[in-house]
Amino acid sequence: MQYRLLGRSGLAVSELCLGTMTFGNTTNEADSIEMMNRFMEKGGNFLDTADVYVSGRSEEIVGKAIKNRRSEVVLATKVRMNTADHPNGAGISRKHIMDGIDASLKRLQTDYIDLYQVHVWDHATPIEETLRTLDDLVTSGKVRYIGCSNFFAWQLMKSLACSDANRYVRFISIQPQYSLVSREMDREMMSLCAEENVGIIPWAPLGGGFLTGRYTREEPTEGRLTSKVGESSWALRNTEKNFAVLDAVSDSARQLDKTPSQIALRWLLQRQGITSPIFGARTLEQFEDNMGAIGWSMPQELWDGLDEVSSLPSEYPNRFIAKFARPY
Ligand SMILES: NC(=O)c1ccc[n+]([C@@H]2O[C@H](COP(=O)([O-])OP(=O)(O)OC[C@H]3O[C@@H](n4cnc5c(N)ncnc54)[C@H](OP(=O)(O)O)[C@@H]3O)[C@@H](O)[C@H]2O)c1
Repeated sequence: MQYRLLGRSGLAVSELCLGTMTFGNTTNEADSIEMMNRFMEKGGNFLDTADVYVSGRSEEIVGKAIKNRRSEVVLATKVRMNTADHPNGAGISRKHIMDGIDASLKRLQTDYIDLYQVHVWDHATPIEETLRTLDDLVTSGKVRYIGCSNFFAWQLMKSLACSDANRYVRFISIQPQYSLVSREMDREMMSLCAEENVGIIPWAPLGGGFLTGRYTREEPTEGRLTSKVGESSWALRNTEKNFAVLDAVSDSARQLDKTPSQIALRWLLQRQGITSPIFGARTLEQFEDNMGAIGWSMPQELWDGLDEVSSLPSEYPNRFIAKFARPY
Protein backbone atom coordinates (compact mmCIF):
# COMPACT_ATOMS: atom_id res chain seq x y z
CA MET A 1 0.00 0.00 0.00
CA GLN A 2 1.23 3.45 -0.84
CA TYR A 3 0.32 6.69 0.92
CA ARG A 4 -0.40 10.13 -0.45
CA LEU A 5 -0.81 13.52 1.19
CA LEU A 6 -4.39 14.75 1.04
CA GLY A 7 -4.47 18.10 -0.75
CA ARG A 8 -2.68 21.00 0.89
CA SER A 9 -2.13 19.15 4.17
CA GLY A 10 0.32 16.85 5.90
CA LEU A 11 -2.31 14.13 6.29
CA ALA A 12 -1.11 10.81 4.81
CA VAL A 13 -3.90 8.60 3.46
CA SER A 14 -3.71 5.19 1.82
CA GLU A 15 -4.03 5.18 -1.96
CA LEU A 16 -7.36 3.35 -1.59
CA CYS A 17 -10.13 4.46 0.75
CA LEU A 18 -12.71 1.93 1.95
CA GLY A 19 -16.31 3.11 1.56
CA THR A 20 -18.73 1.92 4.22
CA MET A 21 -22.12 2.83 2.74
CA THR A 22 -23.32 -0.80 2.70
CA PHE A 23 -22.24 -1.57 6.28
CA GLY A 24 -25.22 -2.60 8.39
CA ASN A 25 -27.35 -2.83 5.25
CA THR A 26 -26.37 -5.25 2.46
CA THR A 27 -23.10 -6.07 4.28
CA ASN A 28 -23.78 -7.51 7.73
CA GLU A 29 -21.89 -6.28 10.80
CA ALA A 30 -19.52 -9.27 11.06
CA ASP A 31 -18.45 -9.03 7.40
CA SER A 32 -18.11 -5.24 7.68
CA ILE A 33 -15.76 -5.54 10.64
CA GLU A 34 -13.82 -8.33 8.95
CA MET A 35 -13.49 -6.16 5.82
CA MET A 36 -12.13 -3.19 7.79
CA ASN A 37 -9.68 -5.47 9.63
CA ARG A 38 -8.43 -6.96 6.37
CA PHE A 39 -8.16 -3.48 4.87
CA MET A 40 -6.02 -2.26 7.76
CA GLU A 41 -3.89 -5.45 7.69
CA LYS A 42 -3.08 -4.60 4.07
CA GLY A 43 -2.02 -1.09 5.10
CA GLY A 44 -5.30 0.76 4.40
CA ASN A 45 -5.80 3.61 6.85
CA PHE A 46 -8.56 5.66 5.19
CA LEU A 47 -12.25 4.94 5.94
CA ASP A 48 -15.21 6.95 4.62
CA THR A 49 -18.66 6.98 6.22
CA ALA A 50 -21.53 9.48 6.71
CA ASP A 51 -24.08 10.31 9.37
CA VAL A 52 -26.90 9.21 7.05
CA TYR A 53 -25.52 5.86 5.90
CA VAL A 54 -28.02 3.24 7.03
CA SER A 55 -29.46 5.83 9.45
CA GLY A 56 -26.23 5.96 11.48
CA ARG A 57 -25.57 2.18 11.57
CA SER A 58 -22.54 2.52 9.31
CA GLU A 59 -20.90 4.98 11.72
CA GLU A 60 -21.69 2.71 14.66
CA ILE A 61 -20.06 -0.31 12.99
CA VAL A 62 -17.02 1.71 11.93
CA GLY A 63 -16.70 3.02 15.50
CA LYS A 64 -16.72 -0.52 16.85
CA ALA A 65 -14.05 -1.71 14.43
CA ILE A 66 -11.56 1.11 15.04
CA LYS A 67 -12.05 1.62 18.75
CA ASN A 68 -8.76 0.02 19.75
CA ARG A 69 -6.70 1.41 16.88
CA ARG A 70 -8.12 4.92 16.58
CA SER A 71 -4.86 6.79 16.09
CA GLU A 72 -3.75 4.76 13.06
CA VAL A 73 -7.02 5.44 11.18
CA VAL A 74 -7.91 8.46 9.05
CA LEU A 75 -11.62 8.64 9.75
CA ALA A 76 -13.81 10.58 7.33
CA THR A 77 -17.51 11.26 7.83
CA LYS A 78 -20.06 13.76 6.53
CA VAL A 79 -22.81 16.15 7.56
CA ARG A 80 -25.56 17.91 5.56
CA MET A 81 -28.27 15.38 4.69
CA ASN A 82 -31.56 14.99 6.52
CA THR A 83 -31.10 13.40 9.95
CA ALA A 84 -34.16 14.70 11.81
CA ASP A 85 -37.70 15.58 10.86
CA HIS A 86 -37.68 19.32 11.63
CA PRO A 87 -36.65 22.40 9.63
CA ASN A 88 -33.09 22.33 11.00
CA GLY A 89 -32.67 18.58 10.59
CA ALA A 90 -30.66 19.06 7.37
CA GLY A 91 -28.24 21.53 5.79
CA ILE A 92 -24.95 23.12 6.77
CA SER A 93 -26.22 25.76 9.16
CA ARG A 94 -24.32 26.27 12.41
CA LYS A 95 -27.16 24.55 14.21
CA HIS A 96 -27.27 21.40 12.09
CA ILE A 97 -23.48 21.03 12.01
CA MET A 98 -23.16 21.45 15.79
CA ASP A 99 -25.88 18.86 16.34
CA GLY A 100 -24.42 16.59 13.64
CA ILE A 101 -20.86 16.47 14.94
CA ASP A 102 -21.88 15.42 18.43
CA ALA A 103 -24.18 12.70 17.12
CA SER A 104 -21.44 11.36 14.80
CA LEU A 105 -18.79 11.39 17.54
CA LYS A 106 -21.11 9.41 19.79
CA ARG A 107 -21.90 6.78 17.16
CA LEU A 108 -18.23 6.53 16.19
CA GLN A 109 -17.12 6.23 19.85
CA THR A 110 -14.39 8.80 19.37
CA ASP A 111 -13.71 12.39 20.38
CA TYR A 112 -12.48 13.59 16.98
CA ILE A 113 -13.07 13.19 13.24
CA ASP A 114 -10.02 13.35 10.97
CA LEU A 115 -11.85 14.59 7.88
CA TYR A 116 -15.27 16.20 8.35
CA GLN A 117 -16.99 16.67 5.00
CA VAL A 118 -19.93 18.73 3.80
CA HIS A 119 -21.97 16.05 1.98
CA VAL A 120 -23.47 18.34 -0.67
CA TRP A 121 -23.73 22.11 -1.26
CA ASP A 122 -26.59 23.82 0.58
CA HIS A 123 -28.11 26.80 -1.21
CA ALA A 124 -29.94 27.84 1.96
CA THR A 125 -26.90 28.54 4.16
CA PRO A 126 -24.31 31.29 3.55
CA ILE A 127 -20.96 29.55 3.07
CA GLU A 128 -19.39 32.00 5.60
CA GLU A 129 -21.63 30.53 8.31
CA THR A 130 -20.62 26.99 7.42
CA LEU A 131 -16.89 27.66 7.24
CA ARG A 132 -16.87 29.69 10.48
CA THR A 133 -18.57 26.76 12.19
CA LEU A 134 -16.16 24.21 10.72
CA ASP A 135 -13.23 26.42 11.75
CA ASP A 136 -14.59 26.47 15.31
CA LEU A 137 -14.80 22.67 15.26
CA VAL A 138 -11.14 22.43 14.24
CA THR A 139 -10.19 24.90 17.00
CA SER A 140 -12.17 22.88 19.54
CA GLY A 141 -10.36 19.68 18.53
CA LYS A 142 -13.50 17.80 17.46
CA VAL A 143 -12.37 17.94 13.82
CA ARG A 144 -8.85 17.82 12.37
CA TYR A 145 -9.40 18.65 8.67
CA ILE A 146 -12.37 19.63 6.55
CA GLY A 147 -13.50 18.53 3.11
CA CYS A 148 -16.51 18.78 0.83
CA SER A 149 -18.44 16.58 -1.58
CA ASN A 150 -20.78 17.08 -4.54
CA PHE A 151 -19.93 20.72 -5.28
CA PHE A 152 -19.73 22.61 -8.54
CA ALA A 153 -16.24 24.02 -9.15
CA TRP A 154 -17.49 27.57 -8.50
CA GLN A 155 -18.87 26.49 -5.13
CA LEU A 156 -15.52 25.02 -4.12
CA MET A 157 -13.64 28.11 -5.33
CA LYS A 158 -16.06 30.41 -3.47
CA SER A 159 -15.49 28.35 -0.31
CA LEU A 160 -11.70 28.49 -0.62
CA ALA A 161 -11.81 32.24 -1.19
CA CYS A 162 -14.06 32.67 1.84
CA SER A 163 -11.67 30.65 4.02
CA ASP A 164 -8.69 32.64 2.82
CA ALA A 165 -10.39 36.03 3.30
CA ASN A 166 -11.44 35.17 6.85
CA ARG A 167 -8.44 33.03 7.83
CA TYR A 168 -10.66 30.01 8.36
CA VAL A 169 -9.36 26.51 7.68
CA ARG A 170 -9.76 25.45 4.04
CA PHE A 171 -11.32 22.39 2.49
CA ILE A 172 -8.38 20.06 1.79
CA SER A 173 -10.40 17.61 -0.32
CA ILE A 174 -13.40 17.18 -2.56
CA GLN A 175 -15.36 13.93 -2.87
CA PRO A 176 -17.08 13.88 -6.27
CA GLN A 177 -18.47 11.05 -8.32
CA TYR A 178 -15.66 10.25 -10.78
CA SER A 179 -14.88 7.10 -12.74
CA LEU A 180 -14.41 5.81 -16.28
CA VAL A 181 -18.20 6.16 -16.71
CA SER A 182 -18.58 9.50 -14.94
CA ARG A 183 -16.03 12.09 -15.98
CA GLU A 184 -18.02 15.31 -15.58
CA MET A 185 -15.37 16.63 -13.16
CA ASP A 186 -12.97 16.93 -16.10
CA ARG A 187 -14.84 20.08 -17.20
CA GLU A 188 -13.65 22.37 -14.39
CA MET A 189 -13.08 20.57 -11.08
CA MET A 190 -9.87 18.74 -12.00
CA SER A 191 -8.05 21.89 -13.07
CA LEU A 192 -9.35 23.86 -10.09
CA CYS A 193 -8.08 21.19 -7.69
CA ALA A 194 -4.67 21.12 -9.37
CA GLU A 195 -4.45 24.91 -9.15
CA GLU A 196 -5.54 25.08 -5.48
CA ASN A 197 -3.99 21.76 -4.35
CA VAL A 198 -7.25 20.18 -3.23
CA GLY A 199 -7.21 16.38 -2.93
CA ILE A 200 -9.76 14.42 -4.98
CA ILE A 201 -11.25 11.30 -3.42
CA PRO A 202 -13.78 9.95 -5.95
CA TRP A 203 -16.88 8.01 -4.95
CA ALA A 204 -18.40 5.23 -7.09
CA PRO A 205 -15.04 4.48 -8.75
CA LEU A 206 -16.59 1.26 -10.10
CA GLY A 207 -19.64 3.09 -11.40
CA GLY A 208 -21.64 1.45 -8.59
CA GLY A 209 -20.66 -1.99 -9.95
CA PHE A 210 -21.06 -1.33 -13.70
CA LEU A 211 -17.29 -1.51 -14.26
CA THR A 212 -16.85 -4.86 -12.49
CA GLY A 213 -17.67 -6.80 -15.64
CA ARG A 214 -20.75 -8.48 -14.15
CA TYR A 215 -23.24 -6.56 -16.33
CA THR A 216 -24.07 -7.11 -19.99
CA ARG A 217 -26.38 -5.16 -22.28
CA GLU A 218 -29.33 -7.10 -20.82
CA GLU A 219 -31.18 -5.29 -18.04
CA PRO A 220 -29.83 -6.74 -14.74
CA THR A 221 -32.03 -8.68 -12.34
CA GLU A 222 -29.61 -8.55 -9.39
CA GLY A 223 -27.13 -6.05 -7.92
CA ARG A 224 -27.08 -2.30 -7.30
CA LEU A 225 -27.84 -1.42 -10.91
CA THR A 226 -31.38 -2.80 -10.66
CA SER A 227 -32.15 0.43 -8.78
CA LYS A 228 -34.56 2.66 -10.70
CA VAL A 229 -33.21 5.84 -9.09
CA GLY A 230 -29.83 7.24 -8.09
CA GLU A 231 -26.53 7.86 -9.80
CA SER A 232 -25.78 4.16 -10.25
CA SER A 233 -29.18 3.22 -11.67
CA TRP A 234 -29.43 1.13 -14.83
CA ALA A 235 -31.19 4.03 -16.55
CA LEU A 236 -28.05 6.17 -16.25
CA ARG A 237 -25.45 3.46 -16.86
CA ASN A 238 -27.11 1.77 -19.85
CA THR A 239 -25.64 3.82 -22.71
CA GLU A 240 -23.66 2.77 -25.77
CA LYS A 241 -20.72 4.91 -24.66
CA ASN A 242 -20.60 3.23 -21.25
CA PHE A 243 -20.64 -0.21 -22.89
CA ALA A 244 -17.80 0.85 -25.19
CA VAL A 245 -15.86 1.83 -22.05
CA LEU A 246 -16.73 -1.48 -20.41
CA ASP A 247 -15.56 -3.40 -23.51
CA ALA A 248 -12.22 -1.56 -23.34
CA VAL A 249 -11.92 -2.25 -19.60
CA SER A 250 -12.60 -5.97 -20.15
CA ASP A 251 -10.12 -6.09 -23.01
CA SER A 252 -7.39 -4.49 -20.85
CA ALA A 253 -8.24 -6.93 -18.06
CA ARG A 254 -7.68 -9.88 -20.40
CA GLN A 255 -4.39 -8.48 -21.67
CA LEU A 256 -3.02 -7.86 -18.17
CA ASP A 257 -4.57 -10.92 -16.50
CA LYS A 258 -6.49 -8.69 -14.09
CA THR A 259 -10.19 -8.29 -13.36
CA PRO A 260 -12.30 -5.42 -14.75
CA SER A 261 -12.69 -3.92 -11.23
CA GLN A 262 -8.92 -3.87 -10.81
CA ILE A 263 -8.53 -2.12 -14.17
CA ALA A 264 -11.17 0.51 -13.35
CA LEU A 265 -9.56 1.28 -10.00
CA ARG A 266 -6.03 1.16 -11.40
CA TRP A 267 -6.96 3.73 -14.05
CA LEU A 268 -8.00 6.11 -11.28
CA LEU A 269 -4.92 5.33 -9.17
CA GLN A 270 -2.77 6.47 -12.11
CA ARG A 271 -4.94 9.50 -12.97
CA GLN A 272 -3.09 12.68 -12.10
CA GLY A 273 -4.84 14.65 -9.35
CA ILE A 274 -6.67 11.69 -7.81
CA THR A 275 -5.58 11.05 -4.23
CA SER A 276 -7.57 7.99 -3.20
CA PRO A 277 -10.62 6.35 -4.83
CA ILE A 278 -13.33 5.38 -2.30
CA PHE A 279 -14.47 1.94 -3.36
CA GLY A 280 -17.41 -0.06 -2.06
CA ALA A 281 -17.65 -3.83 -1.61
CA ARG A 282 -20.77 -5.67 -0.51
CA THR A 283 -18.95 -8.97 0.10
CA LEU A 284 -15.49 -10.05 1.23
CA GLU A 285 -14.91 -11.61 -2.21
CA GLN A 286 -15.60 -8.27 -3.89
CA PHE A 287 -13.29 -6.60 -1.38
CA GLU A 288 -10.42 -9.00 -2.16
CA ASP A 289 -10.96 -8.53 -5.89
CA ASN A 290 -10.84 -4.74 -5.57
CA MET A 291 -7.71 -4.76 -3.40
CA GLY A 292 -5.94 -6.39 -6.35
CA ALA A 293 -5.85 -2.92 -7.92
CA ILE A 294 -2.72 -2.00 -5.96
CA GLY A 295 0.88 -3.19 -6.22
CA TRP A 296 1.29 -3.03 -10.01
CA SER A 297 1.26 -0.50 -12.80
CA MET A 298 -0.85 -0.21 -15.98
CA PRO A 299 1.22 0.38 -19.15
CA GLN A 300 0.79 3.93 -20.44
CA GLU A 301 -0.67 2.91 -23.82
CA LEU A 302 -3.50 0.94 -22.15
CA TRP A 303 -4.14 3.83 -19.73
CA ASP A 304 -4.31 6.23 -22.69
CA GLY A 305 -6.73 3.94 -24.56
CA LEU A 306 -9.11 3.90 -21.59
CA ASP A 307 -8.74 7.65 -21.24
CA GLU A 308 -9.67 8.19 -24.86
CA VAL A 309 -12.75 5.96 -24.93
CA SER A 310 -14.12 7.43 -21.68
CA SER A 311 -13.29 11.10 -22.14
CA LEU A 312 -15.90 13.84 -22.50
CA PRO A 313 -16.62 15.11 -26.00
CA SER A 314 -14.58 18.12 -27.06
CA GLU A 315 -16.33 21.14 -25.52
CA TYR A 316 -16.11 24.90 -25.34
CA PRO A 317 -14.37 26.67 -23.55
CA ASN A 318 -11.81 23.94 -22.84
CA ARG A 319 -11.30 23.39 -26.57
CA PHE A 320 -10.88 27.11 -27.27
CA ILE A 321 -8.55 27.77 -24.34
CA ALA A 322 -6.36 24.74 -25.17
CA LYS A 323 -6.00 25.99 -28.75
CA PHE A 324 -4.33 29.17 -27.55
CA ALA A 325 -2.15 27.63 -24.82
CA ARG A 326 1.29 29.26 -24.77
CA PRO A 327 4.33 27.01 -24.70
CA TYR A 328 5.78 28.32 -21.40
N1 LIG B 1 -20.27 11.62 -1.18
C1 LIG B 1 -21.29 11.01 -1.71
O1 LIG B 1 -22.31 11.61 -2.05
C2 LIG B 1 -21.20 9.52 -1.93
C3 LIG B 1 -22.17 8.87 -2.71
C4 LIG B 1 -22.04 7.49 -2.88
C5 LIG B 1 -20.98 6.80 -2.29
N2 LIG B 1 -20.08 7.46 -1.51
C6 LIG B 1 -18.92 6.76 -0.86
O2 LIG B 1 -18.25 6.01 -1.85
C7 LIG B 1 -18.23 4.62 -1.49
C8 LIG B 1 -18.32 3.77 -2.74
O3 LIG B 1 -19.49 4.10 -3.46
P1 LIG B 1 -20.29 3.07 -4.33
O4 LIG B 1 -20.60 1.88 -3.51
O5 LIG B 1 -21.39 3.80 -4.99
O6 LIG B 1 -19.19 2.73 -5.40
P2 LIG B 1 -18.53 1.59 -6.23
O7 LIG B 1 -17.28 1.20 -5.53
O8 LIG B 1 -18.46 2.11 -7.60
O9 LIG B 1 -19.57 0.36 -6.23
C9 LIG B 1 -19.60 -0.58 -5.20
C10 LIG B 1 -20.62 -1.65 -5.52
O10 LIG B 1 -20.27 -2.36 -6.72
C11 LIG B 1 -20.44 -3.77 -6.53
N3 LIG B 1 -19.09 -4.35 -6.51
C12 LIG B 1 -17.98 -3.83 -5.88
N4 LIG B 1 -16.90 -4.59 -6.12
C13 LIG B 1 -17.29 -5.59 -6.92
C14 LIG B 1 -16.61 -6.68 -7.52
N5 LIG B 1 -15.30 -6.84 -7.33
N6 LIG B 1 -17.33 -7.53 -8.30
C15 LIG B 1 -18.65 -7.35 -8.50
N7 LIG B 1 -19.36 -6.34 -7.96
C16 LIG B 1 -18.69 -5.46 -7.17
C17 LIG B 1 -21.18 -3.93 -5.20
O11 LIG B 1 -22.57 -3.79 -5.46
P3 LIG B 1 -23.65 -5.00 -5.41
O12 LIG B 1 -24.47 -4.74 -4.22
O13 LIG B 1 -24.42 -4.83 -6.68
O14 LIG B 1 -22.89 -6.29 -5.36
C18 LIG B 1 -20.68 -2.72 -4.43
O15 LIG B 1 -21.54 -2.32 -3.39
C19 LIG B 1 -19.41 4.46 -0.51
O16 LIG B 1 -19.25 3.35 0.34
C20 LIG B 1 -19.34 5.78 0.22
O17 LIG B 1 -18.33 5.73 1.23
C21 LIG B 1 -20.17 8.81 -1.34
